[in-house]
Amino acid sequence: MTEAIDIRGVQILPGYLDRPTQEQMAEAIRAVIRAAPLVTPVTRWGKPMSVRMTAAGAYGWISDRGGYRYAPQHPAGMAWPPIPEPVLAVWRAVSGCGRMPECCLVNWYGPDARMGLHQDRDEVDFTAPVVSISLGDDGLFRIGNVARGGSTESIWLRSGDVAVLGGAARLIHHGVDRIRPGTSTLLGAPGRLNLTLRVVR
Ligand code: SIN
Ligand code: MN
Repeated sequence: MTEAIDIRGVQILPGYLDRPTQEQMAEAIRAVIRAAPLVTPVTRWGKPMSVRMTAAGAYGWISDRGGYRYAPQHPAGMAWPPIPEPVLAVWRAVSGCGRMPECCLVNWYGPDARMGLHQDRDEVDFTAPVVSISLGDDGLFRIGNVARGGSTESIWLRSGDVAVLGGAARLIHHGVDRIRPGTSTLLGAPGRLNLTLRVVR
């Protein structure tokens, strides 16, 4: 791992996970996806998002015509699988938080997927950070401000990088403009997996 990078209070830990740990985590997430298949969320207006999602933990974050919210079950009705241990280990090491995460959101970016600038603000307790783990192809991560608008800064997140959005940066706007398909050999197919860990209640 190289030194942490601070962008507007977001702590980025480049190369935090070594390759064997990334492989172990990718395998664990494949098992999560087998138990709780990826879905294409739609907005309240029925527009499909380009990122496909599932989750592990007590809650998953879902979006459908009823709006977006945390839910204790996958849209198909099953409970979310438990958060894999290697993922929890990252939280213990970097979160500085006494509570354990209740949601590991799994975002799958195919070659053309993106995620617009947004805040993570559907949780109850903003003293707990959001911890984000990148696996697979590079993703161009954009960081704005806590308030809407203003300037932004971007950084390519690579496989094994961890980002922590905590403290004054907990509610910062962030998004992913695009991925660079084929830049990682980890997943054996073009695409990017992002895991975000959150305390929900
Ligand atoms: C997110 O904000 O949920 C995902 C961030 C990322 O994909 O890096
Ligand atoms: Mn987010």
